[in-house]
Amino acid sequence: MYRIAVIPGDGVGPEVIREGLKVLKAVAEVRGFTYELVHYDFSGERFLATGEVLPDSVLDELRDMSSIYLGAVGHPKVKPGILEQGLLLKIRFGLDQYINLRPVKLYPGVYTPIKDKRPEDIDFVVVRENTEGLYTGIGGFLRKGTPDEVAIQEAVYTRKATERCIRYAFQLARDEARKKVTLCDKSNVLTYGHDLWQRVFQEVGAEYPDIEKDHAYVDAICMWMIKNPEWFSVITTCNMFGDIITDLGAMIQGGMGIAAGANINPEGVSMFEPIHGSAPKYADKNEINPLAAISALQLMLKNLGEKEGAILIENAIIRLLSNGYIKDMGAGRMGIGTKEVGDLIVKFIREGDKGV
Ligand code: IPM
Ligand code: MN
Repeated sequence: MYRIAVIPGDGVGPEVIREGLKVLKAVAEVRGFTYELVHYDFSGERFLATGEVLPDSVLDELRDMSSIYLGAVGHPKVKPGILEQGLLLKIRFGLDQYINLRPVKLYPGVYTPIKDKRPEDIDFVVVRENTEGLYTGIGGFLRKGTPDEVAIQEAVYTRKATERCIRYAFQLARDEARKKVTLCDKSNVLTYGHDLWQRVFQEVGAEYPDIEKDHAYVDAICMWMIKNPEWFSVITTCNMFGDIITDLGAMIQGGMGIAAGANINPEGVSMFEPIHGSAPKYADKNEINPLAAISALQLMLKNLGEKEGAILIENAIIRLLSNGYIKDMGAGRMGIGTKEVGDLIVKFIREGDKGV
């Protein structure tokens, strides 16, 4: 029996999560597992009404869950930073979800803006460090608001977090068809922090003689991801660069309509979310693509050990996409409704592999 915390959030979050939960119900019935949902309404909406973002007591409740399923947070009337820090980063850091795993996979039938690249060329995963780097919020102002103002934003890299991230990437590469890990950094400029990443990569890499090692500076990887995405299998990188290159990754796999991510604590509670934001202008229109949230659910089931269930979801997604049910992955251009996409995925799951 799984206990799954559900935080739909703002904007299109509730709609895409609703479709995800329909899919979860179908998979559980087909696969014969049971779960209980614990709903939380933390969001920009709730913050505006009560001033509450995510109380510590709730963070503690989340520690006892099997998984967390997050929609999207972000509200046009809430100052940037409040929900990001107070909810998303609070959960990632508080539950020590030290890996942000983002698959970049082009499914058949999906348009990629890169000319001449096919699904077999775009299939890699980014292992992003998820607890430190530039995200720790360390820094401050001096003489704020004056012409002599100083702003400091510090990047923190610990050996422990660097090592566990890199080790996770190598471990993951063992399960991949192409056994290769690429370290993405900026060690030519960040001569302390990314010197540490370089040394740890060499050290940990030596324990994995079966895995090919490669390196690319972050600016260069932005070029290679477009020019030669087929070079990559597992890319590991720091928090900030991982954030940036996975938006690029989302674009080459068909856009925010499909890109999903997992915030993983391999020893604790993990959280699964579509990469897209709350997109308020598409809210409640039945126009948003729920596949990113459904893909996030697939990552959740895989993480829970429900491998067959995860495969059922992925096969249903592939069947939907390769048969042209969705005209365009973008919100408002799908040619089919949010609910209808969810219904089709449920139908395909119930039909099992017959239709693939
Ligand atoms: C993401 C988002 C977050 C991040 C923001 C909302 C804090 O962009 O999940 O990629 O930077 O990690
Ligand atoms: Mn991001």
